[in-house]
Amino acid sequence: MKNINDAPFLKELKDTTANMYRLGYDERNGGNISRMLDEDEVAEYLDLNNVIRTIPTGFSAPELAGRIFIVTGTGKYFKNVKDDPETNLGIIRITPDGCTAELLWGFKDGGRFTSELPAHLMSHIARLSVDPSNRIIMHCHPDYTLAMTRVHEMDERAVTRTLWKMMTESIVVFPEGVGILPWMVCGTNAIGEATAEKMKKYRIVLWTLHGIYGCGKDMDEAFGLIETVEKAAKQYILTAGLPQVNTITDENLRDLAARFELDYRRDFLDL
Ligand code: 13P
Ligand code: ZN
Repeated sequence: MKNINDAPFLKELKDTTANMYRLGYDERNGGNISRMLDEDEVAEYLDLNNVIRTIPTGFSAPELAGRIFIVTGTGKYFKNVKDDPETNLGIIRITPDGCTAELLWGFKDGGRFTSELPAHLMSHIARLSVDPSNRIIMHCHPDYTLAMTRVHEMDERAVTRTLWKMMTESIVVFPEGVGILPWMVCGTNAIGEATAEKMKKYRIVLWTLHGIYGCGKDMDEAFGLIETVEKAAKQYILTAGLPQVNTITDENLRDLAARFELDYRRDFLDL
């Protein structure tokens, strides 16, 4: 059996959490990531018959029966993952009834998966239903996106239009726009269900006055979506209140969509 410390999926999570901490997206224990793993890739490093302990998830996700995830721990700091992955991360497998997580590795100090597991697992189910290649759900608290949710009207069409008009690449990266939830109590099944509902239509979901969710087939896609939204939100916050001398028009957005052959939200344009 190979050493799990050499597993590419572990290195990827260590690098990603360190990067996100360095960018200021994940203060203290802020943020969480889950990545679905193939049984074969885990079996190279772990005995899949060795369940360390079981942890109830608090909800039922039979659609994910037998699925394995590497996930960040609740209360754990992204900045600490790199030096002590076995305490700050865990590898879990969902039981056939979908109600329990079997711990296969990690959470060494007796810890458990992120409090946002409902939003993660329900979003995995939602994304897999529209995109079977999806593997990642990622949540964080980037500054400018968060600030934007304080001062901008929180309507999906309005926020998407603003983000698209902040920089040319926005519509290319998220042509479907962004989903939005009002402020809700986090860590609950209710916010998990609401996030997953949005994830059927959007790969980005903003949680008003809290943060952002992104997803993707790999870490680059999920992170790339989040950093592009964050960059556009930064442009918005940096220029809000200043005279808008030069703007990207709705016609410009339509022309971009044509050039890049985007399947985009035409109803979000005023044409
Ligand atoms: P966890 O420490 O439980 O992952 O929670 C962090 C967070 O961002 C809650 O939304
Ligand atoms: Zn959060």
